[in-house]
Amino acid sequence: MAAGVNPSDSSLAAIISSSEYDGELSRCADRVRRENYSDEVYLRGLIEVSSYCKNNCYYCGLRAGNANALRYRLSKDEILAVCEEGYGLGFRTFVLQGGEDPSFTDSFICDVVSSIKSSFPGCAVTLSLGEKDYSSYKSYRDAGADRYLLRHETADQKHYSMLHPESMSLSRRKECLFALKELGYQVGSGFMVGSPYQSVENIVSDIRFLQELSPDMIGIGPFVHHWSTPFRDFENGSAELTVRLVAVLRLLFPYSLIPATTSLATIAEENRKKALLSGANVIMPNLTPLKVRKKYELYDRKLSSSLESAQALDGIRRMLEEIGYRAVQSRGDVKRQTTNNNLI
Ligand code: 5AD
Ligand code: SF4
Repeated sequence: MAAGVNPSDSSLAAIISSSEYDGELSRCADRVRRENYSDEVYLRGLIEVSSYCKNNCYYCGLRAGNANALRYRLSKDEILAVCEEGYGLGFRTFVLQGGEDPSFTDSFICDVVSSIKSSFPGCAVTLSLGEKDYSSYKSYRDAGADRYLLRHETADQKHYSMLHPESMSLSRRKECLFALKELGYQVGSGFMVGSPYQSVENIVSDIRFLQELSPDMIGIGPFVHHWSTPFRDFENGSAELTVRLVAVLRLLFPYSLIPATTSLATIAEENRKKALLSGANVIMPNLTPLKVRKKYELYDRKLSSSLESAQALDGIRRMLEEIGYRAVQSRGDVKRQTTNNNLI
């Protein structure tokens, strides 16, 4: 697959059908990432603000129906204390991620966002708090939020209904994503690789949907089962296929911000490096306080460093240097609109 070419559905399907690592594809993707982002890998400080969720996605350990889940939510002061530490370590993006926790009211979220923006000048705030009304998204934006992450999970309606209960719908998810774009957020979306019942055609639809949405950030990671969910007996997704897809996404979205995700590294740490060498250009070190970190269990054995943030950061810097990249902690905004629109 060459850069700057929009492959047909059938050639995309052919690339996806093999789940082996493809050196040539990765090298090509790396060339494109270096043309646009040089050797820079942007670091984002991830803060998992609440493990409560009102939803019941069948794949996720935080689902409301999981009575075994350990729940916590951080207070405003705790979140600001994490930002303070992160700011001292050089982070200039904070990602506030959590389940859909009804106790996190809009006014609480706005208060936290505006406090971070005023206390830590020059920072970008990214929210990842699920589906909300337009007016809520607007209020967060007015409070200063810059970016929003909301994976579409699967762009096929039938598949969506196999991963989620009836109370959730793909159309609502899409509506949220387009609302976020309209409000001027830098938007991130993405999907799980190897989720139960996923077909090659589903992944082609995911890529087509991303081309339609034209997000600034694209996060993909393998499905990893969780012992206390309805999907406990399903196989994990393939790390090799995820890495191939990272390369494909880099070629199709030359300017996008693509993280080497935690679920990929959970399957095997080596995969993080492979993703970086195949076009990924973001890492999100976890700044969540150690005392609650293990409770944010989306899936089994979720990679969770027991190191203090500063030590973990040193490790990441060294790892990046070893494989020929440079950790950058500036805001790291997207360089240009992601989709090469004349390809569609
Ligand atoms: N395996 C992999 N990823 C998962 N997520 C939730 N549960 C799992 C799982 N079992 C991902 C979803 C969600 C993000 C926060 O975590 O894609 O959007
Ligand atoms: Fe809640 Fe998100 Fe997990 Fe679904 S994936 S149950 S919305 S935390």
